[in-house]
Amino acid sequence: MKNIIFIAPPAAGKGTQSNILKEKYDYAHISTGDMLREAINSGSKLGIDVKNIIDKGELVSDEIIIKLVAEKLASLKGKPFILDGFPRTLNQAIALEKIIDDNYVTIYLDLSEEEAISRITGRLTCSCGKSYNINIDSLKPKIVGKCDACGSNLIKRDDDNVDAFKIRFKTFLDNTEALLDYYNSKNKLVKIDVNREVSDIFNDISGVVND
Ligand code: C5P
Ligand code: MG
Repeated sequence: MKNIIFIAPPAAGKGTQSNILKEKYDYAHISTGDMLREAINSGSKLGIDVKNIIDKGELVSDEIIIKLVAEKLASLKGKPFILDGFPRTLNQAIALEKIIDDNYVTIYLDLSEEEAISRITGRLTCSCGKSYNINIDSLKPKIVGKCDACGSNLIKRDDDNVDAFKIRFKTFLDNTEALLDYYNSKNKLVKIDVNREVSDIFNDISGVVND
């Protein structure tokens, strides 16, 4: 089982695919976005420092995020992992390469800006990590506003709005070419079109990680 690094624009389904992978296989799911949002909700110093940056759709400094991920990876003691949301910059990728072994694949979830913005405006999330979409029939919650898995109230993320989306997408475009070149040159890159059914995308990812 290969470790997974997801590279994707906002709302491409990193979290959704990570949740399925975690259920089917024994992966630890490291979502840097979730970790930062938890820090904000807990009111920690880190949370206070990063809230404005995240609400605007900008990136937290490489230094902060690399430290957060390095500590998390060290705590796994070798368990297979999914990196969901990291690395976002070439600097982060270079730092990561120094702390993980070669048993990984980078999966680029490819989605157009048009499709991403339509997903963002319909997205609702739960504090348990599940994500829904009121614009996509197969991703609607069974009961309006409630999580199918745990029954909690669904929320709209503060950065799931059109203004923050534009900055998030631009940030993604500005950084991703260098990241893709980096992993391509190492023969570590697989591209998957995600404008398809969740289960078809999952089947493709399964084939890649079990290869
Ligand atoms: O991955 P996700 O879309 O959940 O990330 C939400 C936000 O968290 C990003 O828009 C960014 O503000 C912040 N983030 C970051 N650096 C990362 C991952 C997330 O600054 N490596
Ligand atoms: Mg996510």
